[in-house]
Amino acid sequence: MIVCSCSMISDSDIEDALVEILNQPNAPIPTPGVVYRQLSRRMNCCSCAPLAVETIYKKVNELEKKGLICPDVCVATRSKLIEFTARRARRTGTNDKAAPQPNAQDGQLKVA
Ligand code: FES
Repeated sequence: MIVCSCSMISDSDIEDALVEILNQPNAPIPTPGVVYRQLSRRMNCCSCAPLAVETIYKKVNELEKKGLICPDVCVATRSKLIEFTARRARRTGTNDKAAPQPNAQDGQLKVA
């Protein structure tokens, strides 16, 4: 699935970038900008940002289930992504309904 048509980035590209990013020591928050830089691409129109964030959330969960990312890193990443999404919503004055919310039962992020 193509996530960004400007830079031709697929969900598979995002998954590959996340494996590289989240296996680094002191892994940064995998925001769309960080992921795109890892892929040597740039955001142009930014219309893909909500889909990119949603894809990043989904891929972090999938990679944890596949055992490709340390569970401790996944927990820290989810927490950082929730903070990032909340800050972004406050800054833009939007209520990003597409942003995943933590499930009260298992702590996994649930995408609307
Ligand atoms: S669609 Fe991703 S930057 Fe334009």
